[in-house]
Amino acid sequence: MRKKVIQTFLLGFGLIGAVAVAWRLVSRLRPFPCPPWLGWLLENPLTRGMNANLLIRRAGLKPGMRILDAGCGPGRVTVPAAEAVGEKGEVIALDIQPAMLDLTRKRVKAARMENVRYMLSALGENMLPENRFDRAFLVTVMGEIPDKLAAMQEIAASLKPGGVLSITEILLDPHYQSLKAIRLLAHRVGLIESAVYGNRFTYTVNLRKPLSEAVHA
Ligand SMILES: C[S@@+](CC[C@H](N)C(=O)[O-])C[C@H]1O[C@@H](n2cnc3c(N)ncnc32)[C@H](O)[C@@H]1O
Repeated sequence: MRKKVIQTFLLGFGLIGAVAVAWRLVSRLRPFPCPPWLGWLLENPLTRGMNANLLIRRAGLKPGMRILDAGCGPGRVTVPAAEAVGEKGEVIALDIQPAMLDLTRKRVKAARMENVRYMLSALGENMLPENRFDRAFLVTVMGEIPDKLAAMQEIAASLKPGGVLSITEILLDPHYQSLKAIRLLAHRVGLIESAVYGNRFTYTVNLRKPLSEAVHA
């Protein structure tokens, strides 16, 4: 009986591991957005390193700021960000999937926040306003974007001079991007690293838009 339980456990873990590896390989060949029904995976004990309140502290949100939550998913970061900037601030929740924006809307409504606007858009298509945001979040999104450079350029242009793009990645994500890859992109669009937090499994890197120099196009 005990042997059977152990065998079932091992089989289960083996299957989950095989699916994770297959997903990672496929997504490297062709990036695709995380389906809304997997949104719950973003909030569990294994993802504590990217807890929304922690990310908000790392990005230094203050009342009155304008925030972009790029690839907001189910609104995990959107609501605490809206609370942190208060009624004089604003959060734009952007996602490529209408179903993800619907989940965010529900969450925002439940939290009775009124300072969130929604944007259905694909990063990299230059739909964002320029020089608008004090902070932008990109939390476990970059690996899902086919044209990463275009997305970085668009976000960099949408930041105010001195504004900060805060990127978080977690190794468990099949679309995980290394810090080295992010640094390369940041360098190409002219963003300057201002802080790194976490460890090699989960990290946040803050990238600041220079005050005077133009961001590379
Ligand atoms: C893994 S989820 C992360 C959600 C959220 N940032 C969080 O940490 O809870 C990635 C999100 O990025 C969105 N996404 C993927 N590619 C995108 C693109 N090109 N433009 C905008 N959003 C995109 C997906 O639809 C999905 O909601």
